[in-house]
Amino acid sequence: MKPFRLLGATSFLGAGILAAALAPLTAHAQEAKPSVTAASPDGSIVLTVDTDNDSRPTWSLSRKGKLLIAPSKLGFVLTDGVNMVRGFSITGSETGAHDDTWQQPWGERTVVRDRYNEITVHFRQSASQGNRLMDVHFRLFDDGIGFRYELPEQPAMKTMKIADETTEFDIVPKGTAWWIPGGEWNRYEQVYQQTPIDAVSTAHTPITMKLEDGTHLSFHEAALVDYAGYWFKRADGQKFRTTLSPSSQGARVVRDLPFNTPWRTIRIADKAAGLVENDLELNLNEPNKLGDVSWVKPMRYVGIWWGMIRGDWSWATGPKHGATTARARQYIDYAARNGFGGVLIEGWNKGWDGDWFGHGDFSFTEATPDFDIKAVTDYARKKGVVLIGHHETGGNIAIYEKQMDAGFALYEKLGVTSVKTGYVADGGGIIADTWHYGEQPGATHMEWHDGQRQVNHHLDVVKLAAKHHIAINAHEPVKDTGLRRTYPNWIAREGARGMEYNAWGAFANGPDHEPTLVYTRMLSGPMDFTPGVLSLEGAKHDPLASTLAKQLGLYLALYSPIQMAADFVENLEKHPREMEFIRHVPADWAESHLIAGEVGDFAIFARKDRKSPEWFVGGVNDATARIVTLSFDFLEPGKTYKATIWKDGEGATYLTDARHRIAYDTRTVKKGDKLDLWLAPGGGAAMRLVPGK
Ligand code: NOJ
Ligand code: CA
Repeated sequence: MKPFRLLGATSFLGAGILAAALAPLTAHAQEAKPSVTAASPDGSIVLTVDTDNDSRPTWSLSRKGKLLIAPSKLGFVLTDGVNMVRGFSITGSETGAHDDTWQQPWGERTVVRDRYNEITVHFRQSASQGNRLMDVHFRLFDDGIGFRYELPEQPAMKTMKIADETTEFDIVPKGTAWWIPGGEWNRYEQVYQQTPIDAVSTAHTPITMKLEDGTHLSFHEAALVDYAGYWFKRADGQKFRTTLSPSSQGARVVRDLPFNTPWRTIRIADKAAGLVENDLELNLNEPNKLGDVSWVKPMRYVGIWWGMIRGDWSWATGPKHGATTARARQYIDYAARNGFGGVLIEGWNKGWDGDWFGHGDFSFTEATPDFDIKAVTDYARKKGVVLIGHHETGGNIAIYEKQMDAGFALYEKLGVTSVKTGYVADGGGIIADTWHYGEQPGATHMEWHDGQRQVNHHLDVVKLAAKHHIAINAHEPVKDTGLRRTYPNWIAREGARGMEYNAWGAFANGPDHEPTLVYTRMLSGPMDFTPGVLSLEGAKHDPLASTLAKQLGLYLALYSPIQMAADFVENLEKHPREMEFIRHVPADWAESHLIAGEVGDFAIFARKDRKSPEWFVGGVNDATARIVTLSFDFLEPGKTYKATIWKDGEGATYLTDARHRIAYDTRTVKKGDKLDLWLAPGGGAAMRLVPGK
């Protein structure tokens, strides 16, 4: 175990570790120990690790003196029939404490505090059960916990072929859950459901819960590396069990020892804001491994995109081809005039003709005849704009892996600094070459978007892109588990229903979709949602479940270091006053606070720009009109700010053409001031606060 920064005995004990329960550091390896207990720094969260009557390892958790997680089992089932569930005893444990801060190169806040107590518990199986060793390492924060299995080198086992991981979470108080199903064809792009906890089936993480006593929980994982993502599967009542995303290889995970699993995490808070202002998974990831990442630049962007999503243009060649040299120049000109850093261009390369969904055969270096990539990137450079690259794979990573180095090299040569990747294929439909499994090159297997093979693929892409000084925004990705801390060029991803769904039907994303995303998907990390459809129209004039002000509020509600203004530039041009906000809203923050909100209902943030003393306030509402009283307590004392406000106009509602009604306001505000803000059904608001009167 690595050395810990100890806080000194007094503060360490005073901070709430239960001294009596601490196992001595010099535990005798073989001797069975009674249960061990540890607590978070403020003592509010208390962990007990034990074995049950059937000698199965268990963990349980209480918070503020109440049982939150009843004794829940730990262990694995292996493919060769080996059980790593029974026959265990505790042979010792070690504790430590840590309190430190670190800085994010970009993000929701510059400084992150990492403060926890920790305990590693050693288990050994009896000789009759196989003599295997397993450590479980817990970190206890005041607002959550993380634990992972650490499998040490050992004579009894060289490789683990994991059929499934059977970590349990037996939630005691009743409550409500917000979740999407795991293991479905449409990956993470599902409509969120709100149900009693005991009506969840198999869910993706993060899954959010609100318990009867008001406690908020979010179950997820951190540092998903060389392992399969887990789904949160209900076993019985409110008891859940991990089940790993499948693999074509039978065993869902194959690893040589020693290795550590990802961290299984729970954010725990009294209020919804406590889930949102929580850096648990980032803290459980390893520090930046890339060194200087000043080449990763947060920015706003526009793109040749909405026209393809709506069907007005095509990715494929032909009369409707979207990515032409002429249109690229038009978008670059617009970007340069309106303070956008980048222009995304999709469909410029060969491979889009025919049906590419689920089996793509793309070239990542050859352009279509009507697109001159050299001329376009030269023009962009002259205008001070960068082209944002695109690597759609159709889920065929066998083809992509052969070409991706050449694809990134080309982009690097052309001055492209970020690439959007895509894996459009049904769940379980990733086509992977099997050389990874030691088979002949050329043979392929189907894999899941969150299975071990694809988890490894994503990291291979991110590491290779870093060598070319390119940042990655993955669509149809694996869920975010905080790896942006270790690889800060992994800037964003999709991994939920984005704006694109609104092109495909009236109110396709319901009015509560974004106020739900804030407390679910967004807890995992930045999302390339692509806000800014100011026309409020998808294909065939299908309306968005959004007022105009909500489109602006999205820039504050859904954090990403890259923020698109997704509409056609002709439509953006029709909205000079709204563009005044989009032109100024940063994509990189010094601080972020959820100042008002409830899960699935509404969310209003206050965020401070990293590069200036300006603050921005705003967010999104569900279908219920409401007045929210905002308090400007976050402002610096003694300073006055001029607030420019974009808000729902009188009578605005997403349900009718009144969705376009917007009102503008200016006023001065200072710390201590309050403001009553009316949010329309499907509404939102945005404010820019500039120091001065
Ligand atoms: C789906 C992505 O979400 C979308 O943004 C992209 O334009 C298409 N795939 C094509 O790659
Ligand atoms: Ca998508």
